[in-house]
Amino acid sequence: MSDFELDGLKSAHLGRRAVLCGALAVAFGLSADIATASSPAVGLKQVGKKLQLDLAKNKALLKIGGAVTIALGDGSSVAVVRTAATTNGFVAMNLSCTHQGVQVEQQGSNWICPAHGSQFSSAGKVLRGPANQALYKYPVAATAKTVTIG
Ligand code: FES
Repeated sequence: MSDFELDGLKSAHLGRRAVLCGALAVAFGLSADIATASSPAVGLKQVGKKLQLDLAKNKALLKIGGAVTIALGDGSSVAVVRTAATTNGFVAMNLSCTHQGVQVEQQGSNWICPAHGSQFSSAGKVLRGPANQALYKYPVAATAKTVTIG
C-alpha cells in the first residue's frame, strides 16, 4: 500500500458500504472488460500535505491526453492528466467513482467505472451516469519541471 496522502477529498468521499457494494459488483462479473492505459507516476515526492511529481520522469504527461496514476494510502488513486500544452495544463482527480466509490479506469481518453458503467471525460466530467457528479479534483500548480497536487 502507498504512503502518499492528499487532503481535500470531501465531495467524493464515500462510505465503506458504498465502496463494498461497488467492489461486489465487480467481483460478481458485472463489469465490462476494460483496458487500463495510464501508468503509475514515478519521481513522486510527498511535500507536506501535497504531492509533487517530476515531469521529466513521467513522459506520458508530455502529450495532451497523457495520464499517470498515484496510489494513495487510503486505497484510492489519483490521476494526473495533461489537458493542454500550457504550463498549467494539468488536472488531478481522485479516481473514486462518484456513484459508489469504485475506482474508474482509463479507456481511450475517458474514464469508465467497471461497476455500473458511469463514464467520465479525460478531465473528470460526467458523460454518462448513474454517477451525477464529476470526479473530485485537487488543486494543481505546475512549472516547466514539476506538477504539485493538493
Ligand atoms: S460505482 Fe456505480 S457507476 Fe461507478
